[in-house]
Amino acid sequence: MNCFFITGTDTNVGKTIACRAIIQSLQQAEVQVVGYKPVACGVEDPVYSDVKIENESDYSSENNPDVLTLISSTKENVTYQDVNSYSFSNTMPMLTTEVQRIDIDKINHDLACLFKKYRSVVVEGSYGWLTPINQEYTFASWAESHRMPVILVVGIKQGCINHALLTAQAIRQSGLQLQGWIANRINPGLSHYSEIIRFLSDKIDAPLIGKIPYIHKPEEQELGQYITGIEHLVRMIE
Ligand SMILES: Nc1ncnc2c1ncn2[C@@H]1O[C@H](COP(=O)(O)OP(=O)(O)OP(=O)(O)O)[C@@H](O)[C@H]1O
Ligand SMILES: [Mg+2]
Repeated sequence: MNCFFITGTDTNVGKTIACRAIIQSLQQAEVQVVGYKPVACGVEDPVYSDVKIENESDYSSENNPDVLTLISSTKENVTYQDVNSYSFSNTMPMLTTEVQRIDIDKINHDLACLFKKYRSVVVEGSYGWLTPINQEYTFASWAESHRMPVILVVGIKQGCINHALLTAQAIRQSGLQLQGWIANRINPGLSHYSEIIRFLSDKIDAPLIGKIPYIHKPEEQELGQYITGIEHLVRMIE
């Protein structure tokens, strides 16, 4: 399967930024690639009693920043609905009645459409590895059902060693291949940056395929050069 599942140690650790870097790097290697974000969540905190399924639309709006970044990162001409199956304005639709909208068959269908048209697909999860998609699936079990190779994005900050090692362990336990990991410098003021990366490199049983420095507005920049181990991904693509 010409597909990679991008997970992270947490929300806001740079999964979308890493997707952009991977997409741009694959394109530099002449590999046709698009991003896909199955479930895009918003930033509004839900008031649980107020969350109602007001309409049957799969898209509360079509302006989720992750989806827009995935669209702007590929050279292919994709629409919003090509690369996203559900957009919500609330933060955790999986925990409210909105979850009833999320149908795994639609997600599988939308992914299959991308496979038919494009050589490879970079899939971005939501939040972290064990996050639910709906009442039946987590992102982990869905990635497992497709046998997707996984890339772990570590936002380098205090506490990330624990989150990174636990996530890497859970990926291994699922039987999926951890294809590589990416260190993302989300906090420029953090001391021990190099030491954390060295420690994780020793402990994670997968190659470090890129280091993304702290960058102003990274979603608008060319990031392909920060993926230094693109060969680990290219060789997986048929
Ligand atoms: N290397 C970096 N340098 C500077 N800012 C960064 C960097 N990486 C990420 N950011 C910023 O941190 C924020 C979170 O990044 P991003 O959206 O990629 O995280 P995420 O893990 O995809 O979050 P989500 O769980 O919401 O999908 C964004 O505002 C982004 O611009
Ligand atoms: Mg994101």
